[in-house]
Amino acid sequence: MKKVLIKNGTIVTATDEFKGDLLLADGKIAAIGGAIDASSADEVYDAEGKYVMPGGVDQHTHFDFSFGDTTCVGWEGSPAAVVSGTTTIIDFVNQKVGSSLKSSIDEYQKNKVDGNACCDYGYHGVVYDANDALFEEIEHMPEYGVTSLKLFMAYRGQPYHCDDDAVLKALQASKKSGVTIMVHAESADMIATLQKQVAASGVTGPIGHALSRPPVVEEEAVSRAAYLAELAAAPIYIVHVTAKGAMEVIRDRYEKGVAIFGETCTHYLTITTDALEKPGFEGAKAVCSPALRSQDHLDAMWEAVKKGWLNAISSDHCGFNYETHKHAGYGEGKTFADIPNGAPGLENRIPVVWTEGVEKGKISRKKFVELIATNPAKINGLFPQKGTLAVGSDADVVIWDPTYKGTISIENSLQGCDYCAFEGFDQIGRADKVFLRGELVADAGKYVGEKGSGKFVPGKPYGLCYELA
Ligand code: URP
Ligand code: ZN
Ligand code: ZN
Ligand code: ZN
Repeated sequence: MKKVLIKNGTIVTATDEFKGDLLLADGKIAAIGGAIDASSADEVYDAEGKYVMPGGVDQHTHFDFSFGDTTCVGWEGSPAAVVSGTTTIIDFVNQKVGSSLKSSIDEYQKNKVDGNACCDYGYHGVVYDANDALFEEIEHMPEYGVTSLKLFMAYRGQPYHCDDDAVLKALQASKKSGVTIMVHAESADMIATLQKQVAASGVTGPIGHALSRPPVVEEEAVSRAAYLAELAAAPIYIVHVTAKGAMEVIRDRYEKGVAIFGETCTHYLTITTDALEKPGFEGAKAVCSPALRSQDHLDAMWEAVKKGWLNAISSDHCGFNYETHKHAGYGEGKTFADIPNGAPGLENRIPVVWTEGVEKGKISRKKFVELIATNPAKINGLFPQKGTLAVGSDADVVIWDPTYKGTISIENSLQGCDYCAFEGFDQIGRADKVFLRGELVADAGKYVGEKGSGKFVPGKPYGLCYELA
């Protein structure tokens, strides 16, 4: 394998920023520091004027994800990860009803992932069938490298809905094996009532989605999740936090000793409820759960990531196509409640967070790296193999060009979905070169890697949420 030297860049990790060189050998970072002798390398890249950062870790993606009868786009979109600077994703895999999580993941791996993955990846399980066999299996999950499990507190009436009984039992089992329990925290009952009332009032289009899922719906469920975690004496992780009040519950209960943590997502930092009010059925493109919020909530999410009250920024990439999937909520007898929840965003996370966060002075470059790479790696037990630049870590490296300017458009999208949630966004900076385990896989917006070269990375148990508990 070639030895690659990246010279003269500004190296940025979650803890340091300095001018220096980086040597990649045998898929690992072999040396880091002052001037490294170029004669030791087969290939040299000059990173003068650029930042050299660890490859991003997106701990919240849904490829080939089924929600009811609808399945979103899948791994054919995985080049979008590396081209944008994300070298590892943690993808959610649904447990099949009547099956173990292990066999559901094995099947998913064989049918969907093998031969298609262009980035490295790990898995979270998603509970579809909360029974005693599953609670027992939680104790064995680390044996196959899966160390986190998501339960949906939302979606009353769906097979994947979990009530408090299931969340509590999962939490109790999780601490025996160091698995991290993640919850989608929205009150299923409040939503079910409001959906009917909003539709009955005559609002059937996409904005009804936000009206039937106001912030308090999220705040109540996050609060309940905190009590469940306290009762079980186990950590809990709240995915996709959007509401100021929900974030404050996490912050305040953690300060009182409850092991509760959370992430937010790119769109909850940058897109307001207005996107649901676009003319025609366009608003359906912005239907995701929890719902998009008003600017004061977006501001609160920025403050939370800056201050460490939320630990990570994920994409919640979920590529439901506008034409073939989102239109399930269009036409006679249909309402916003029939629109599949989720939006694509894998390829937009890093450039949008850089532009809005770093360029606009909301977060430092080190904080950026912590939020998009280091903390997600730690939460999922992948650190220090992933999420940092250190001798011995995987050589997942981004050479970032801060001078690039472009506009996000479906025209150059690689994520395989028929629309872009960030269409028209003026982006500053981009991943100029991306290395995955020492191989160049992306070059100035083009995928140059080998399809299927992404590898499964087993997660270690007792990740960051246990450490911080
Ligand atoms: O609306 C969303 N977030 N869709 C993806 C599935 C989930 O709840 O994370
Ligand atoms: Zn057992
Ligand atoms: Zn969710
Ligand atoms: Zn999600």
